This record gives sequence, structure tokens and C-alpha cells, in this order.
Amino acid sequence: MGKVWALGFACWLLVSPLVLAQSLPGPPECKADTMKKIAFGVGSSAAQSEGAAAVGGRSPSVWDVFAKQPGKIQDGSSPAVATDFFNKYKQDIALMKSMGVKNFRMSISWSRLLPQAVKGSSPSSDGVKFYRAVFKELKDNGIEPAVTLYHWDMPQVLQDKYQGFIDRQIIEDFTYYADVAFKTFGDQVKKWTTFNEPWVTCNLQYGNGDFAPGVQYGDSGKWKCGHNLLLAHANAVRLFRQKYNSDKKGRIGMALWSEWSEPWTDKFEDKRAAQNKIDIDFGWFADAIHFGDYPAQAKKTQSAFLPVFTEEEKKLLRRSYDYMGLTIYTAKFASEVPGNPNGWWVRTTDVNGKVVGQQAESYWLYNVPWSINRMLTYMKNRYDNPYIWVLENGISEKGEGNRVGMGPDTLRDPLRTDYFRGYISEACKAVESNGVRLTHYFAWSFTDNWEWREGFKTRFGVVRIDFANPQLPRGIKDSGRWLSEHVFKKSGQTKQVGEVLNFDELGAAC
Ligand code: GAL
Repeated sequence: MGKVWALGFACWLLVSPLVLAQSLPGPPECKADTMKKIAFGVGSSAAQSEGAAAVGGRSPSVWDVFAKQPGKIQDGSSPAVATDFFNKYKQDIALMKSMGVKNFRMSISWSRLLPQAVKGSSPSSDGVKFYRAVFKELKDNGIEPAVTLYHWDMPQVLQDKYQGFIDRQIIEDFTYYADVAFKTFGDQVKKWTTFNEPWVTCNLQYGNGDFAPGVQYGDSGKWKCGHNLLLAHANAVRLFRQKYNSDKKGRIGMALWSEWSEPWTDKFEDKRAAQNKIDIDFGWFADAIHFGDYPAQAKKTQSAFLPVFTEEEKKLLRRSYDYMGLTIYTAKFASEVPGNPNGWWVRTTDVNGKVVGQQAESYWLYNVPWSINRMLTYMKNRYDNPYIWVLENGISEKGEGNRVGMGPDTLRDPLRTDYFRGYISEACKAVESNGVRLTHYFAWSFTDNWEWREGFKTRFGVVRIDFANPQLPRGIKDSGRWLSEHVFKKSGQTKQVGEVLNFDELGAAC
């Protein structure tokens, strides 16, 4: 009997690694051909990863200053070191390569490239050196960068000078910054995003003051911010097209945040509420860069504060993107506020009280795979079937921030693995069944990072970092292994046949 047991145990030891590997779910429900057509990758942002906040003459961003105010960041941390990508980028890029990653979304810190930030100021040679080295390292490892110019890290000097997005001066200064970036890195970077999630910037950074700089500019600030930001975007896009993209090999767009809004019931009123919410949250920016103006619903309900575009500005904005960037995490239900045809309530349970999906660590996030299909299909129908890049999609696993050390158990993230499998399958459905032109998809995020107000407590990485260890060791989580095996290694290269848009036809030459 003892022998049988010993033999059984020996066999288990032999097969257990296989059993463990097999315990990950199978591939997403996607045709091989679809997987090849989409360029998959991972994402991060400067403030959340770089650290080296004061190295090489970099000036502070609003987050560096905000994080120093007591009580602003949940765990009292700051972005001063973050994931130390500034010093560890070679190691991180090697890790990406080992996972089969071929596309990396990152952002440039405005105040590292241009410490004085304003028009006419000189680029920092250390800043230029750092980003050129990162782009070279990526290229040497077969990884293509997609670079965002502004991922929420307003230089503090511009905040002090004229309150950032509240003043029209931001248009000139941002366009100058974009000019410097295109000129300095244009030989290494072909894929650009002007702004990350303007909805968040204008609601949380320049509206309610929840995010840095932490000033409440209210409704007037919020809509002003959106207006100036849109014009800064359109000017940067015009510059890119006229001065830097004559061979039309580059691509530029904006990363628009949306959570899908599902009518709570099939009553006309609830359908109207869901539509109104999408109009105000997504159409605010998407309508402006596509049609050249704000959605009718915003004009109707926000007339007290909503600025007005001139005819020339409308022309500049119209089709000011090559791809429509989407960041999507979740869905909620919307029902109309009784007696108010313009008001909506957001609900996390359906009409029978069933919650929309499994909840993440982040209070606002639920695992709702079908949300991505509905959102992509909505964008296709409303905006003339644009090329779409999903620039962020991911989830925070409950309790990950409390894990200690780097043992195998700290790398288990079944919710995240399930989330990616569900969302990628639904994204493929949107392509295969609904004809959506999705060409890029970036999982958020590459490593755990500095999650803004939530500090290091909330984790989104497919690679774990032990922030309690000063060496900041990295370890690939199960979701990272799953993505590597079933997605990154199956993903297409990034040269998209047929993706070249006819700019003249789109009116982009104006
Ligand atoms: C996005 C943001 C990212 C990341 C993510 C998860 O809105 O662009 O920087 O923080 O949310 O919360």
C-alpha cells in the first residue's frame, strides 16, 4: 500500500506543473485570423511608473505636489519612485519580450521633456536621452511603442501660471510640447495619443477636485477644460499631419473613457437615459473630434457653461483622429430620473436586483465582458466605422494589495484572467460578427503601479511588483501567463494592411 502511495505521489510531482499550467482557462473565443489582425500589447503611464521625479532637471507635475498634501493618497505614498521604470526599463522590456509582447503603450512626462513646460522653452537633454533610450530598447526587442503625450500629469508650473486647462494658453503650450515630441522622437515613434481620458481630466482634475491639482473648478471649470483640451488636441493633430506625417505612416488619436450604459428596463425612458449618459460622457469628446461639435444633448442641457466653437474651430476638430481610442473597463445600468427626461440614475444591479458582474477591488469596476462588444459596436454605428484602438482594458483583483512577498500564491489572479478571456472573446465577436474595425488592444496594466489616489493598494498589473521590497522585484501573474500564451504570442504584427486613411477625403487636410 505504502508503495502504491509513494508511486502515486511521485507521479503527482511529475504532472503537477502540467496540472498547474492547465488550470489556466483556454484561449479566448477568437478566430486565429482575428488574433493576427489585432495588435495586442500592454500599457502603463509615466506618472504611475517612472519615478525619478526630480532626476535630470525634471520639474514636478501636479501629482508630485498633490501627493505631498496629507490625506490625499490613501496609503500616504507618492509617485516619487513608483515602479522605478526610469531605472528598470531594460529589465521590464526584457520581461515584456519574454512574454511575447510586441506593443507597449506608455506616456511621456511633459515636465521631464520640457521642465519649464511653456512654448519656446528648451527640452531637457536628460529627458530626451531617457526617452530615446527607452524607444531604442523597445525597438531592439521587437516591441513597438504607442505614446501618449498627456496622461494626467500637468506640469505644476503651468498650474501655477494659469491653472492648466482652465486657460486658453494651454492650447499653445500643449501644441508646442507636441511639436517638440514629434520632432525629437518621430523617427522612433509612429503611434501617438494626444490625451488620456479627457473625461477624467475635466471631471476629476478640473471639475470636482478629487484628482490633482485638487482644486474645485466646478461645472464651469469642467466644460472649459474640455473645450481647451479639445482645441489643444485638434491643433496638435493638424501640426502632426502637416509637418510630421507626410508619408502617412504615423497614426494619431485620443484615448476616450467610457463605461457602457445599459438601459435598466426596456422602457423608452430608460433607453433615453442610457443614451443621454453616453452622449454626455463619451460624445462630449467623440462627437467633437468626429463631427466637429458637441452632442445636441450637451448643448441642450449644459448651455449655462458649455462654450461654443467657432466655424473655424469646428472645421479643425472634424475628423481630427486617425483611430478612435477607447479605454473601457465596465458597464452599469441607467434609468431615467422620474420627471426629468435629461437626468439618469446609475445602477449596479438590474431590475431584478442582480449585480451587473463580479466586483473588483476598485469600487467602480465590475467584470462585464459584453460591455466591450456593445461599446465597440456603438462606436462603429455612430462614428462611421472608425478604426478603433482599445488603449486600456483591465481589472483590479480584490485584496492583491495586501499580499506579502513573492511566493507563488501572490501571483494567482483568477478574476483578472477570467476578465481578459471574457473581454477579448467579446471584442473578437464585435470584429467577427459586427464588422468592428478593431486594430489594437492594450491590456491595462503591464506591471502593478502607482494607482493615483489609491496609491499602491489597488493593483491592475499582469506582472506583480512587491513594493515592500526596496528592490521592487517583478513576477508574472497567472493573467500575464495566460495573455502571453493565448494572446501576445498569437497576436499580429502592428503593420495594419489597409489601415491608411484617405486624409483628404476625410477633410483632415484643413
Ligand atoms: C484609467 C487610467 C489609468 C489607470 C486605470 C485604472 O482610467 O487611465 O491610469 O489608473 O484607469 O484605474
